[in-house]
Parts: sequence; C-alpha cells; structure tokens
Amino acid sequence: MSPTPGASGSGVLLRVDGYEISDDPRRIDLRAVHAFLRRAYWSKNIPFEIVERALGASLCIGLYAPDGAQVGLCRLVTDYTIFCYVSDVYVLEEHRGRGLCKAMMRATLAHPRLQGLRRWSLVTHDAQGLYEQFGFRRVAHPERHMERLNPDIYLGGTAPGTNE
Ligand SMILES: CC(C)(COP(=O)(O)OP(=O)(O)OC[C@H]1O[C@@H](n2cnc3c(N)ncnc32)[C@H](O)[C@@H]1OP(=O)(O)O)[C@@H](O)C(=O)NCCC(=O)NCCS
Repeated sequence: MSPTPGASGSGVLLRVDGYEISDDPRRIDLRAVHAFLRRAYWSKNIPFEIVERALGASLCIGLYAPDGAQVGLCRLVTDYTIFCYVSDVYVLEEHRGRGLCKAMMRATLAHPRLQGLRRWSLVTHDAQGLYEQFGFRRVAHPERHMERLNPDIYLGGTAPGTNE
C-alpha cells in the first residue's frame, strides 16, 4: 500500500489503493452512513434525522471505494481550537483488514484544521489497540471524568436522574 496525499483544496486528504479519504461534505452518503450506524453497537436504531443533524454539525472524514461508494466514516466533534471528540468510526465489513481505518486516522490527525489541539477524546468497547497506535491512552484519572449518558436513547430509554 502506498498512501499519497490528496491535491490541496480538493477535499481528498489521502489516496490508498484506489480508495479516497475526503472531508468534502458533499460526498457524504447519508443513507449509507445511516444504514451502518443504525446497526452499530453504540447507536442501535438511531433515526435518519439524528444522523443527518449530527453529521451536518461535525467535520466528517469519509472513506470512498474505487467505485465512489462511501464505505467508512470518522466523525469529528470539535471546536477546531482546543478539543476534538472522535466518533462514529467505521469501515464496512467487506473493506476491513486493509489498513483503511488506520489511513482514516492518519488523515484525521494530519487534518489542517485539527492541529495544536489540547485534548482528543474517544470512547470504544474494544478498539483500544487501534487508537493506541495513534497516541491515544487510557484515561489517566478516570475519577476526574464525568458523563451524563443515556445509552438506550434510540431504543426508548431515558437519562438517569431525570423525569424524562
Ligand atoms: C474498527 C474498524 C473501524 C477497523 O477498520 P479496519 O479498516 O479493518 O482497520 P485497519 O485495517 O486500518 O487496522 C485495524 C488495526 O487496529 C487493530 N485493532 C484493535 N482493536 C480492533 C478492533 N476492535 N477492531 C478492529 N481492529 C482493531 C487491528 O489489529 C489492526 O492493527 P494492525 O494493523 O496494527 O494489526 C472496523 O473493524 C469497524 O468498522 N468495526 C465496527 C465499528 C467499530 O467497532 N468501530 C470502532 C468504534 S470506536
């Protein structure tokens, strides 16, 4: 595999074996992204409209197969200055195991709008080994971190400590 940087300003950040990694929001295939996310363990049953709004408010780095189909995503929730939360990272099953997710992560960390940030953050069940290759570490002081989480929100769950 020989990754080559994309032409400046084209939206293409990296080319790998005929695949393109691009931050052009016009290339995002919302239906394809929703089809994956609605069956992903972290967003089971997520409605299309929620995916549409979330992607519209994020920096999205898409992975495109040689035929142009969107086959992966990395969604960045960021202020472009201090903080970035890495979310909704996937590569469709038939394209896995070829280094494409790692290529997306390289393109993400090299993105010109994401330089000099103080903190990058993400949550994963089992892909710690993947992100450790890119400098992510387990939270050093978990006792300092808090969250307000409703994991089953798209399955009809309610947030803890509320009357919703
Ligand atoms: C995780 C995922 C994006 C990896 O995509 P991929 O294109 O196959 O990954 P790559 O080929 O670029 O390489 C993955 C690397 O991470 C490692 N890894 C660690 N944990 C992993 C995990 N849970 N799943 C896949 N790879 C994992 C692999 O061993 C591999 O390392 P190596 O190349 O140094 O041997 C893909 O399996 C996927 O979409 N899974 C379902 C969604 C998901 O779990 N996303 C992550 C949520 S945080």
